[in-house]
Amino acid sequence: MNRLSLFSPSKLNLFFRVIKRRSDGYHEIASIFQAISLGDVLEVEMSESDLITCTDSQIPCDRSNLVYKALHLFRAKTGLTQKVHFHLKKRVPIQAGLGGGSGNAATALWALNMLFQTKVNPQELCLWSAEIGSDVPFFFSLGTAYCTGRGEILRELSPLRETSLWLAKPNLGLSTPLVYNHCDPASLSSIDPLSVVRAFLEEKPSYFNDLELSAFKLMPELERLKEQLLALGFHTAVMTGSGTAFFCLGEVVEPNLDGITFFKVNFLRREEGSWYQFSDSDKLRTS
Ligand code: C5P
Repeated sequence: MNRLSLFSPSKLNLFFRVIKRRSDGYHEIASIFQAISLGDVLEVEMSESDLITCTDSQIPCDRSNLVYKALHLFRAKTGLTQKVHFHLKKRVPIQAGLGGGSGNAATALWALNMLFQTKVNPQELCLWSAEIGSDVPFFFSLGTAYCTGRGEILRELSPLRETSLWLAKPNLGLSTPLVYNHCDPASLSSIDPLSVVRAFLEEKPSYFNDLELSAFKLMPELERLKEQLLALGFHTAVMTGSGTAFFCLGEVVEPNLDGITFFKVNFLRREEGSWYQFSDSDKLRTS
C-alpha cells in the first residue's frame, strides 16, 4: 500500500458553554461534540517531496495548513523521513465552526499511521493531536464526546439518538480568536454543563451556544439569520463552535434562503479500530 484515501468528517457542537478565560489566552469550555456526515476527502501517497494540494484555491497549502502541522508532528514523534503528497478534496466550508481543518489534521495523522504501518495507538495519536489545535483530539473519539479544558479533554459518550438535520452556512466567515476575544464569560449562563450532558443522554436535549452572543455582536446578520431559520419552520437553529454555520432541527423539507448554502447531514460514528467511512447521505444544495 503506497496510497490511501480517507473520509475527513466535520463536527457540530450540540451545546457549547464558555466557562472562563484562562491565563494562557484560551477559554475553558464544556461541549458535546458530534461528528457529522459532511466531510472532505483526504488522499495521501508517498512522494519525492512534500506537497499539499487542494481543490479549493481559498485554502492555503503552506505550513499554516493543519495537514502540514499534522505531518510535521508525526515526523517529530516517529522519526518518519519519507516524503508525502496530500491531496484534499474540500467540501466542508471554512470559518464555519465545523472543525473542517481539525478533522483534516486528525485524518492526516490516522492516514500516516496506516500508510507507514507505524502502529501508534489511537489514544497516543489523540494525545499528540492536541498540539495541533484544541478541536483535533475530538476526532479520535468514536464520534460523540463531551469535551472540556480548551476542548482537548474527551469523555466518550454513547451514541445519541440518530438525528438528521440541516446545516445553514452564510457566505460570511468569522475568525475563532476574534469571537472568543469578544466573549465575556462573566455575562454568560451559569448552567452546570454536566446536567446538560445528562439531559442529552436521557433524550431531553437542550441545544445552545454561549458564543452566539459575541458572534452576533461582531456580525448582526447572524442574529437575523437565526430568526429567518426559525421563521422557515425549524424549531431549533443554533450556531456551531465559533460560527458562522448553524444547525437546524425540525420538519422543513427544502429550506431556501438567499445567500445561504444548506447541507443535509446525519450524525456520524466510527467503529473502534477503523476511521470514519465515506457517507453518501449528505446532499449539497446552494441557493
Ligand atoms: O486551539 P486552536 O489553535 O484551534 O485555537 C485557536 C484560537 O482560538 C486560540 O489561539 C484562542 O484564541 C481561541 N481559543 C480559545 N479557547 C479555546 C479554543 C480556542 O480562546 N478553548
